Amino acid sequence: MPFDPVSAVEHAEPLDRVVEPIRNAVGKLLGPAPVRDVLHGVWLGHPLHPTLVQVSLGAFMSASALDLTPGSERASRALIATGFAAALPSAVTGLADWSVAHEEQQRVGLVHAAFNVAALASYGLSLAARLAGRRRTGTALGLAGLGLLGAGGYLGGHLSFRQAVGANHAEDVPHLVRPGWQDLCAVDDLPADGTPARRILGAPNDDVPVVVVGQAGRFHALSGRCSHLSGPLSDGEVTDGGRCLTCPWHGSAFDLEDGSVRRGPATAPVSAFEVRVENGRVLVRLPGAH
Ligand code: FES
Repeated sequence: MPFDPVSAVEHAEPLDRVVEPIRNAVGKLLGPAPVRDVLHGVWLGHPLHPTLVQVSLGAFMSASALDLTPGSERASRALIATGFAAALPSAVTGLADWSVAHEEQQRVGLVHAAFNVAALASYGLSLAARLAGRRRTGTALGLAGLGLLGAGGYLGGHLSFRQAVGANHAEDVPHLVRPGWQDLCAVDDLPADGTPARRILGAPNDDVPVVVVGQAGRFHALSGRCSHLSGPLSDGEVTDGGRCLTCPWHGSAFDLEDGSVRRGPATAPVSAFEVRVENGRVLVRLPGAH
C-alpha cells in the first residue's frame, strides 16, 4: 500500500503529548454547556465551524486573486483584514468541536490547526509588508499563506469527509428501517424503571440498534447511536427529570419524545419511534421511514 501521510498523522501517537494538554486547557476555557452549544452550532442544527471558515477562506483567496489585478491594493488589504476578523470565531468553534473528537481526529485536527496558524502568520506579515509599502513582498507572503491555507483546508476536508467530524452519524436510520409497525421485543424483557435497554430491530430492517426507555408506564424508543460520533445511547443515562437520554461519550442529550438535541455537542437529532404494546410485544414505527 502506498504511503499515506494523512493516515500516518491519524496514527501518530507522539502527537498525543501535544493534544492532551491543549484539550485539557480548551475544556476549561470553553465555559458552561450553553456557551459550548452555541459554539458547536446546536442552535443552527449544523456545526458552526465549517460555515465560519468560508468567510476567512473566501476573503484570503479573494485577496490573492486581486493581487493579480493592478490597482487593487486597498481592496486586498481590506480582504486580508476581513479574513483575520473571521479567523478568531472560526478557530474558537473549531476548538470546541475538536475538544470532543476521537483521538485520531484530534491528531489530524492538531496538524490542520498548525497549518492554519502558519497561514495566519504569513498573512499577518503580508499585511505588515503592504502597510510598509512593500507590495511585492506582501503579495508573495499572501501567496505563501494561501498555500498553507490550502494544506490546512485539505486536512479539514479529511476531518469532515473521511473521519466524519461534524457529520450526522444517525442519518442512515430512516433508510434502513422499513415503513410501518415493526416487532421489537417482548414487554417482559424490558426494564420499566427508566434504565435504557438496547434492542435490535432485525430483518428486514438491516439490524438497526434501538434504545428503549420504559418509565411511568410508557416506553420511548430512539435510534441507538448518537448522532455526534455514534456513541451507544443504551449505555447512557436518563436525565433532565426523565425527559432526556444523555450519551455516555460526550454528554449530548436527546429528548425522549422526539429525539431532538437538548444539549450538544450533537447538532442533529436522532430518530424517535412511535411505540405501541400489543399482545405482550413492543411494536415500533418510524415516521418518515422509507
Ligand atoms: S458520541 Fe459524542 S456525544 Fe454521543
